[in-house]
Amino acid sequence: MAKNFESDIKKIRARARKHIEDGAVTAGYRAHRETVIKLLNEALATEIVCVLRYRRHHFTATGINAQTVAAEFLLHANEEQAHADLIAGRIVQLGGAPNFSPEGLATRSHAEYHDGEDLTEMIREDLVAERIAIDSYGEVIRYLGSDDPTTRRMLEGILAMEEEHADDLVSLLEEFGKGK
Ligand SMILES: [Fe+2]
Repeated sequence: MAKNFESDIKKIRARARKHIEDGAVTAGYRAHRETVIKLLNEALATEIVCVLRYRRHHFTATGINAQTVAAEFLLHANEEQAHADLIAGRIVQLGGAPNFSPEGLATRSHAEYHDGEDLTEMIREDLVAERIAIDSYGEVIRYLGSDDPTTRRMLEGILAMEEEHADDLVSLLEEFGKGK
């Protein structure tokens, strides 16, 4: 039997006129806003740590194959920066404050920062970090369910790119890594 759709437009109109300073967050917003903002600030910290780690690897990659791998590190670093910007924008839209503070950044981040001694270790550490991000985003997406479709869709888009990053790094490890 088809699900009945009922909507009280008068009620929605009246509600929309209240708290207009809340902008995109209406009375119909179903997720727990403080929790979502906290989770997004952890995701923001994770992206920033990934930007820093990829950039470090880009500038310090050495060896015969370094140029190709270094270029990939830079591409990933810039894509992580774009993720950080998306997340910061959504935190503001939800009425929160994006936490860019270096203070506690490594603690807020799910992924770890590693200098990486050689090319193989750099690729491995970046792959581990991507796998951590993939699992973290998966958990937040499941937590959101259908309570905040906009944040969920944004995170689904980011998750798809982290999976591409992980795929790229596996290929680099096979091609250039010594498979320690
Ligand atoms: Fe990312």
